[in-house]
Amino acid sequence: MIQAAAAAQSPFEVPLDVARTILSPKSYTDDNVIYPAFKWLRTNLPVGLAQVDGYDPLWIITKHADVMAVERNPNLFHNADFNTILNERASDDFMKSINNGSTRLISSLVYMDPPEHGLYREIAAHWFLPANIVKLEAQIRALAKISVEHLLSFDCECDFVKDFALHYPMRVIMTLFGVPPEDEPRMLKLTQELFGVHDPEEQRDEIKPEPDVAGRMWHAALQDFYGYFNVLSRERRERPRDDLLSLIANSKVNGEPIGEAEANGYYVTIATAGHDTTSSSVAGGLLGLIGFPSEFDKVKAEPRLTAGLVDEALRWTTPVKHFMRNATADTELRGQKIRAMDRLMLCYPSANRDEEVFDAPDEFRITRGRNPHVSFGYGPHMCLGMHLAKLEMRILFEELLPRLRAVELAGSPRLVETNFVGGLKSLPIRFQKA
Ligand code: HEM
Repeated sequence: MIQAAAAAQSPFEVPLDVARTILSPKSYTDDNVIYPAFKWLRTNLPVGLAQVDGYDPLWIITKHADVMAVERNPNLFHNADFNTILNERASDDFMKSINNGSTRLISSLVYMDPPEHGLYREIAAHWFLPANIVKLEAQIRALAKISVEHLLSFDCECDFVKDFALHYPMRVIMTLFGVPPEDEPRMLKLTQELFGVHDPEEQRDEIKPEPDVAGRMWHAALQDFYGYFNVLSRERRERPRDDLLSLIANSKVNGEPIGEAEANGYYVTIATAGHDTTSSSVAGGLLGLIGFPSEFDKVKAEPRLTAGLVDEALRWTTPVKHFMRNATADTELRGQKIRAMDRLMLCYPSANRDEEVFDAPDEFRITRGRNPHVSFGYGPHMCLGMHLAKLEMRILFEELLPRLRAVELAGSPRLVETNFVGGLKSLPIRFQKA
């Protein structure tokens, strides 16, 4: 149980134990720790100031309506005057020390504000539109069928994450992207390092566990990604193919070829966010079906409920835990004064469990009908790959569920230690084939 306001300094300051829980990557390994903390904040202090040693002060935003209000106003709330990802101050200081005073080690869309953001988003926006994505359905279904056959080849027991969920979204995005299959293990390892900067199981031996370890890990993984993609990018400029890598490598901004840094920003986002989030959602969806067997029976009986299953899996798992914003002018949010340059942490998992928006939010219900989750964010930065991710998930469940008669846990699920992007790292299951 969270110890409430006793230790609070002022009416809008979050009690230290609650603030530490929300900021700490470890809390996200246990739903029974992180979700009660979010619930306490939604109930008692939905816009609360966190002052935790080692971090810049920041506002923790936990209500669905407030997350959306901030996201729909990109001029008042910028992504990247500070780091758009929450880090310990030591890590941000390390990044600034090697990057001319800036924490922007990657020139990706999430580190851009208007008008730069619109110019670069335009490059791939049309490729990710539903009209283009639906054309990929047959290709994706073929990959899903192969993956399901592979899963069924296990002798009715496997680790659903390690043996299956990590690989199918990787296959899909790397095929469309144009990265050769033999490089997928490398992409997976670098992604796990980038998103697992706080997880001792993902950290590199040569990087000491000091207060700036996250910054150093982030830098090291990015350098390896850049080295890899510089070669592919050059190749695609010389000999373009019909893939996403060629589209980005040969794109223009204001009539000029895209810069190396911005192209790398795109490549790394697609090579990381393009599969890790989807894997987490697929695995979380299966865990939801195991934990709520009546939902498993419903979707087995009525396959048209698969679309509802996909959205509920996204809501219930919420693979992206936060993005940061900063105010550009003095303003108010839910009556609370926010000053120019104050930082805000948008807590998507909390918004997705907001009882004002979702009935019985902790339950996994595939028949919610309207499911306005913010797992893909909202507003101008809303996930570029959302239609692709949803299509991949729907196809996968359509291929997988008819082949399963029953499924249950065969061990304890384990979650990645991260306050940024992640989900299940292990999901031991036992299953009966249909
Ligand atoms: C279940 C899967 C996914 C989830 C939960 C997810 C979640 C998110 C979230 C929360 C954001 C930030 C939105 C905001 O600030 O409002 C984002 C941005 C982004 N995502 Fe995804 N994502 C997923 C899959 C993908 C895929 C498959 C791709 C590409 C292949 C992708 C590419 C991007 C890009 C490029 C951005 C930056 C957009 C911008 O800042 O304009 N994502 N995603």
